[in-house]
Amino acid sequence: MRLKPRPEIDALPPYVPGTSLEEAREATGHQRMVKLASNESLWGPSPEALAALQRSLGQVPLYPPMQDPQLIRQLAQETGLPGDHIILGNGADELLRLAAQAYVNPGEEIIFPTPSFSAYYQCARLVGASPKPVPLGEDGANDLDAVLSQVTANTRLVYLCAPNNPTGAAFPRARWQAYLERVPENVLTVVDGAYLEFCPDEVRPDFIQAIRTAKPVLLVRTFSKLYALAGLRIGWAAGRPELVAPLLKARDPFSVSWPAILAARASLADKPYFARVLEETAEARRWLTQEMAARGYSTFTSHANFVTVDVRQSAQEIAQAMMAQGFVVRPATSFGLPSHVRITVAPKTILLDFLDAWDRVLGIR
Ligand SMILES: Cc1ncc(COP(=O)(O)O)c(C=O)c1O
Repeated sequence: MRLKPRPEIDALPPYVPGTSLEEAREATGHQRMVKLASNESLWGPSPEALAALQRSLGQVPLYPPMQDPQLIRQLAQETGLPGDHIILGNGADELLRLAAQAYVNPGEEIIFPTPSFSAYYQCARLVGASPKPVPLGEDGANDLDAVLSQVTANTRLVYLCAPNNPTGAAFPRARWQAYLERVPENVLTVVDGAYLEFCPDEVRPDFIQAIRTAKPVLLVRTFSKLYALAGLRIGWAAGRPELVAPLLKARDPFSVSWPAILAARASLADKPYFARVLEETAEARRWLTQEMAARGYSTFTSHANFVTVDVRQSAQEIAQAMMAQGFVVRPATSFGLPSHVRITVAPKTILLDFLDAWDRVLGIR
């Protein structure tokens, strides 16, 4: 073909998603498959959200609002920030990308942790920036001192992931405070808080406070994980109004659909349902970690809805063998951790069956 894509796009590696249920069914011939590969919620959406979704069908002929006032009000209440600090997006993915598109010029640097979510590298390449990966600390959390040591006059954006995917580790509050004091004012820090709900208050840095003090910080959140709306594609971000406004200009005007808006509104209103999911997730995570330790497998300390286990052998082979047993897990190979398997935390009844399969695959029983 004579027509060539931009070299940055041509060179982009394709995104590697977790194996889908359909692919797993096709590969194994099993109809009963459980997916623990993409950190989707096996508790499912709130019944209120599902009812709202059904009611949303009547809205489908209409364009959605660009920034639904009711949802913005609810998010303002959640965060304690005024509504003009909030932007909705087509998943956290869109907001992570918009931050780079709105703020980074070709040739400037974007720093991000590694191993971590692959979108940061992709976003950097997409805007023609120079990607600067910085290794995680020993604990699997973003190493904020190492990040700062890589900041130069040419750095425009830093992605942080708290808790980090695929380790689940979060950096401590004190490190965040020290980072904020040292990071230059002309560098945008984008905190990807896709798993922040699962992070206990004691270890959760106060990102909202940083926004209140006028720091160039954008906190990105999602309805895909705790709220179990991954298929609807809705996320949001918070930052100073003057920081957020350019993202809204660059966004597709109607990137957040009516069904997504209505399901998100209903989800935020159903506090008891998600309090129970959070409690059960924390308990199941603690239990799964303990069960892995009892079998001699170490895990990163996770504050997210997944546990990443060092299987000390090919993670891809283990994932293949687990699929044959009816469980899709994520080998962390594409993240650069070829002997680690990432397992989404599920209700304990599912995890009991999962561990039986695990023991069969790893020859424990
Ligand atoms: C760290 C991280 N950020 C963002 C996302 C994407 O979230 P969304 O579904 O809202 O685009 C994921 C999804 O796996 C993730 O792990």
